[in-house]
Amino acid sequence: MEGHKIQKICIVGAGNMGHQIALSAALAGFEVKCTDVNEEVLEKAEQFVTTYLPERVAKGKLSQAQADAAGANLAFTKNLAEAACDADLVIEAVIERLEIKRKLFADLDRLCPPHTILTTNSSYIISSKIADVTGRPDKVCNLHFFNPALVMKLVEVVKGPHTAEETVQTLMDVCVSMGKTPVLLKKEIYGFLVNRMLTAIKNEAIYLVDMGIASPEEIDTAVTLALGHPMGPFRLMDLTGIDLTYIVGLERFQETGDPAFRPSPTITEKFIKKEWGRKTGKGFYEY
Ligand code: CAA
Repeated sequence: MEGHKIQKICIVGAGNMGHQIALSAALAGFEVKCTDVNEEVLEKAEQFVTTYLPERVAKGKLSQAQADAAGANLAFTKNLAEAACDADLVIEAVIERLEIKRKLFADLDRLCPPHTILTTNSSYIISSKIADVTGRPDKVCNLHFFNPALVMKLVEVVKGPHTAEETVQTLMDVCVSMGKTPVLLKKEIYGFLVNRMLTAIKNEAIYLVDMGIASPEEIDTAVTLALGHPMGPFRLMDLTGIDLTYIVGLERFQETGDPAFRPSPTITEKFIKKEWGRKTGKGFYEY
């Protein structure tokens, strides 16, 4: 990175997290290219941007000039090589499958200039499981945003044993330039800070429902009013995706053998019925 200022950002994965991170960066003045292998996902992402920006202007949250500038800063493309070839920073936000991420990082290592920092927005896969497929492990790191990424201020920067201090510092600075507040994890740990705490709350909430103690609505009301959380654990699972809760739990169970991680009957049933939350129109609530 020596002397390379971050100006151009490539976001790989135009799903909910990817396109909101891309737009956050474009609004902050970075030149952003957002890419996805799936044409339909790309179209949805572009559609989101073309409705979001005028809505923000109409709401008085952005000036027309700011919206125009953000729109001009953001390009969508299906072509990974085109998106990656001049990037100073890549933020990967694709599906949570280790083998897919490893293949992608190997491709990115070939396609990007030598100075490019490669990061993953994975919610739980630590970058040391990926860095070895690249010839630049010192420039590989976790950069974890929260959902909805346009709103949530926190970003977890998780330093792997391979990550250079200079990379970490550059990423902390980029987060601040994006209007975010970074927290640094000096060592890797599964689930980072927030998802470890959130998982404890979610598991307890699901246990209480499975035991028939209270309904999701009642638990959400309790958590919102008593703990001051903006939304309770069930509304939050609907937002982040019950499919993700299921997949992450199952993988963790298979990895550790600890039954505490095994998806509960309620989560398994919702996963099978494709009641994954907002993205499928129904989860614990209807949308
Ligand atoms: N996308 C973009 N912007 C959104 C949004 C979305 N999906 N939902 C709400 N907003 C914006 C609104 O436009 C509004 O903006 P302005 O105030 O600037 O006009 C603002 O957020 C507030 O929205 P609302 O008044 O409609 O609703 P709210 O006050 O209930 O806030 C919320 C909605 C921001 C989602 C809030 O409920 C919240 O903070 N919930 C908790 C979210 C959370 O915990 N996220 C972390 C999830 S864990 C995670 O992400 C980890 C992981 O690895 C998956």
